[in-house]
This record gives sequence, structure tokens and C-alpha cells, in this order.
Amino acid sequence: MIPDETVEEVRARSDIVEIVGEVVDLKKAGKDFKGRCPFHEDHSPSFYVVPTKGFYHCFGCGEDGDVFSFVMKRMGLDFVEAVKHVGARSGVVVREVRGQRPEEDPNRPLHEANAFADDFFQKRLWDGDDGAGARAYLEGRGIDRETAERFRIGFAPDQRHALRQAASQHGLEQDVLLELGLLARSDSADDAFDRFRNRLMFAIEDLGGRVVGFGGRVLPGNRSRAKYVNSPESAVYHKGSLLYGLVRAKNAIRRQGSALVVEGYMDVVSLAAAGVENSVAALGTALTEEHARLLKRFTTQAYLCFDSDAAGLKATFRAGDVLLREGVHPSVVTLPEGDDPDSIVRAGGAEALRPHVEAAVDVLDRKLQILDERGYFQTIEKTRQAIDRLLPTLRAAADPTLRDLYVDRVAARTGVQKVTLERELTVEPARRQAAQSRPGRPPPPGRRGTRIRGMGAERQFLLLLIKDRTWIEAAGEVVGPEDFVDQGYRRIFELLIERPELDHASAELEEGLRRKLEGLLADTRQFGEAGRVFEETVGRMRGAVVDRRLQALDREIADAQRSADDDRMRTLLVEKQRLSRERAEGSVTRSDWRRTSRKTLGMSAQHTPKEGSG
Ligand code: UTP
Ligand code: MN
Repeated sequence: MIPDETVEEVRARSDIVEIVGEVVDLKKAGKDFKGRCPFHEDHSPSFYVVPTKGFYHCFGCGEDGDVFSFVMKRMGLDFVEAVKHVGARSGVVVREVRGQRPEEDPNRPLHEANAFADDFFQKRLWDGDDGAGARAYLEGRGIDRETAERFRIGFAPDQRHALRQAASQHGLEQDVLLELGLLARSDSADDAFDRFRNRLMFAIEDLGGRVVGFGGRVLPGNRSRAKYVNSPESAVYHKGSLLYGLVRAKNAIRRQGSALVVEGYMDVVSLAAAGVENSVAALGTALTEEHARLLKRFTTQAYLCFDSDAAGLKATFRAGDVLLREGVHPSVVTLPEGDDPDSIVRAGGAEALRPHVEAAVDVLDRKLQILDERGYFQTIEKTRQAIDRLLPTLRAAADPTLRDLYVDRVAARTGVQKVTLERELTVEPARRQAAQSRPGRPPPPGRRGTRIRGMGAERQFLLLLIKDRTWIEAAGEVVGPEDFVDQGYRRIFELLIERPELDHASAELEEGLRRKLEGLLADTRQFGEAGRVFEETVGRMRGAVVDRRLQALDREIADAQRSADDDRMRTLLVEKQRLSRERAEGSVTRSDWRRTSRKTLGMSAQHTPKEGSG
């Protein structure tokens, strides 16, 4: 930690124009300076530095911040590193003080407990008699000791009170262990017991290398149904903003200019054991925008290396759109069916993986390939559907040059004119709908045949999928179960993804859920223009996700403030600013809606598109 006074001294003594000027060619513009933005493909100078206020702002892409955030984003440094970097250029000696204000950090007990548990699990793996099975398991999976230690892999013994007892002897509070999910308590008894038992333990570290949580994999002989048990979210563990392995991979990512995004803990560790150091994994969740921004601090090129089965493809395309929105370029690595990065390097080492990565295809091209394989470009009707499925990806491309290239590609492949596609792109359902989903707003101008008034977005979305099953696959590519607030609708969505032909509510389903599903299946109301309903409901659901994220952010900010975690605080504030702006912009585009939507006639499902057939 760097004392606040030092941070402020560095800020005061630094020259933001000089520091930005090292990477951007700045010209004087009145009292300010301007140049071409280093954060997006900027053709006209839209990047301003305001030395009197000590900040920069890009009118093109909206990036803004102070001298520290510039260095953080541009060089991929964390806050402490950034202050040191700027300090070195401003003649201020920056000294870090360790634990200078322990009494002010309410998370300190959590960090201590995690560190203790990490130590405990590692010792049990290497020193304990009962660790032999886990050691053999690791060996069997090709993980050498050096790699295992580097990743702080451990072993949770098959006992109810091993960790509890050791922790209590160490003087740790039971409540803290419960809060971290290291201990659990059943409803009936108040006897707290070890949550991780007979599992191989993967320590999850934050970017500073602190252990903040764990993932525990079942070991042979463990009859638990859950293959992984993961730490719950806590004040120090936020899985939506952490990538497994990043602290170790970040230098390799920067050096190689790309990151390999894989699915699992084992993939990351096994790749590292084989000498592939630039891989990270999302922690059992879909890739979030925060993940994407985190990656962008180190690279703008991601290789998505997920399973090549149907579920893996959906995850790939959703992650692809998220990355595109944040300005990271995604390429898709296609592994043989049934293989994952771990199995590939286990069989043939890093050499075996390379050709697959080299053969990676841009995410939009991969979508085109798949649609083509499935005969989507053979009829007008299906081409229209294909376009509906490509539009989200075109829209997601934040980089204007890339987006333009994408439009070219789709135009060439479908025979639809570029102008027509561009017109469709100007209707931005997500933003428009984000604005509409705000409570207290008047209902949006209705468009005949698109929506059923008064019906919630989640229900309407599911109704569409049920009435026209061809949308189910596309649905899985743009939203995930976690985007649903209503638990029942979430479950129904999962059921439909698993079995698109689902046509009755099985008797095994819990009562409330069964009734909900039956209600949907029996709903006979009609609406037209499926493509538009699809986009609108997805947009409304996304808007609701943004609102929830903003609420959660407020809580996290208060939290970071309490623990005086400046680094995290700054990141959170920047995100809040960005999200609020995005939501506010939604209201601006709203007035355009009626105009634009009337113009998109040529593309509606009922009218066979003249210029769109080709
Ligand atoms: P995988 O089943 O592919 O796990 O799940 P893996 O890490 O490759 O493990 P091995 O190779 O089978 O031993 C991918 C990721 O999904 C999350 C974990 O983060 C896992 O690494 N996951 C999976 C869970 O959180 N819970 C589960 O029950 C299963
Ligand atoms: Mn695996």
C-alpha cells in the first residue's frame, strides 16, 4: 500500500501531458492538448488532455481518467505499479508500506484466514500421509510438483474438522471461516464443519497474488455429486472480476500479445505444466464485461478455447460478443470433439496445441462457417434468420474498423446490401431497452405486433422460444441462465436449452415451476416479427442486468471504501461511470427508435426482403 499523501504528491508533481505524450502525439489546443486516442482506432484527433484538471478524455470511445489510470490502462499496470511508474518520472520516491493501517482494513481477517487455509491445504498435500492419493492423482494428470506449488495446489483431507481444528488452534475466528465458506453449517445443527473434504484444492488469487478463494475438485473415492465446490462470493472474492491464473499469466500474455481463454482450472494448470503460460479461465461462470476489461489491460487478442460441443459453442459466442464490446478481438480455437486444452497437451505437449491455435478463426467468421454448414444461406427465409443471429456480433464490435470489416463480410456472404445492414445496426436495441427498463419511465412507444403489453421481458422471451423453437439456439448464444432474475424462468430457460423440443411439464418438476411452464406452453397469444421481439426482450433483460450490476457496484464501492482499498475503488468507480453513461445514452437513442424502426421494413420477416435476398 502507498500512503495517500505520497499518491497525492506524485499526482501533483507529475505532468500528465508529458506522460501521455510518451505514447500519444499531442498538439496544443487552447489550454488543452489533443491527439489520436490510443484506446481505439482513432482517425481524427478526439483524445483530449486537460492539464489544469489533470485528466484525459476521448470523445470517440469515452475513455477517461487521470494520470494513474492512463498508465494502468496503457501499460497494464496495477495501481501501485502505476504510482511508482509516474513517481519515477516526477522525481518522487514512492515507498510501499506493508500493513501500515491494519486496524483500518476490515478484510484483514479474511485475508489471514485464506492465507492460513492455503498453507494448510498445501502442507496436507505434500506432508500428510493422507495426501498420497492426491499426489498420485496429480502425477497421473501430468502435473509436476513445481507447477503444483507455483499454482498453490493443495489437498483438503477427508475429515469433518481438520481445517476447523487447525484454524482454531491458530486463533482464527470461526465466523470468518464461515463467511469465507471454508466452513459450513447445516440448518439443523450449529456444528460447523469443513466445507472442502477429500478434494484437490486450487487457490484462487487476485492480481496482487493474494489468495481470495478456492476451487475444490473431487478426488477418486469422493462420492459427492459436485465435481467442483467453489468458495462463495465474499468481501474479498468476486468471481465476475477475477480470472483464474491471470496473476501468473499476465507477463506471458503481454509478451506474446495474446491470451488463451480456457474453461477450467485443470486446463490452466496443465497448460502451464506443458509450458504454455498465457492461459486464464473464468471461474465456472460466463465471461463478464469486467473479465474482458481485465484482459484488455494486458492484450487485445483473445483465443477462445472452449469445448467444441454445443454448450461450448454457445459459451464461445457469448464470450466473443462480450470481448468485442470491450474492444478485445476474439478468435475461436476449434479442438476435436471431446478434447480440451488439457487433453491435447497431455497427449502431445505444447506442440500439439499450436496448430489448433494457429488455425483459429475470427469469431464472426466462425459464426458464418457454422451457419453455412447448417444450410442457413440456402433460402431467403433462413438467410433472414442468419442475419438476425449475426447482428448482435456486428453490433458488439466496438472497434469501428473491425465493425466495418464485419459488415463487408456479412454483406458478401448473404448478398444483403451493406447500407441495409448498416441501417439495421443503427437500431440499438440493447441501449434503447436499457433506458426503458428503468423503473418510473413511461412505457415505450408500442409497435404493433412486436410485444405483448404488460408482459415481462423474461416471460415474453421464453414464449417466443416456445412458439418458434428455431430461436432457441440463437438464444443460448446471447443470454445465459444467470441473466434471468426469476428463478423459475431461469430454470425453464435451462430446460429449453437442454431439450429444445420440450413440450410438456414433467411431473418430476417442483409444483410452482411446473405450473409456470404449463402456463407458457398453453399461452396462445400471437405476436409477429420474431426477430424484433427477440432483440427487444434481450435488450430489456440486458438493461435489467445493468441495473442489478449498478446496485451491486454501489455495495462493492462502499465495501472498498471501508477497507481503504484504493486500487479496487478506482476500478469500481470507473466501471460505475461507464455503466451509468451507457444507461444514460440509452435514453438518448430512444427518440430515434420510431424513426429507425419504420425504416427497417425491408428486413422484416413477413416481407420477403427485396434488396436482402441476393
Ligand atoms: P470442467 O468439468 O471442464 O473441469 O469444468 P476441469 O477444470 O477441466 O477439470 P477436469 O479436467 O475434469 O479435472 C470447467 C470449469 O467449470 C467450473 C470449474 O471452474 C471448472 O474448472 N465447474 C465445473 C464448477 O464450478 N463446478 C462444477 O461442478 C463443474
Ligand atoms: Mn478438463
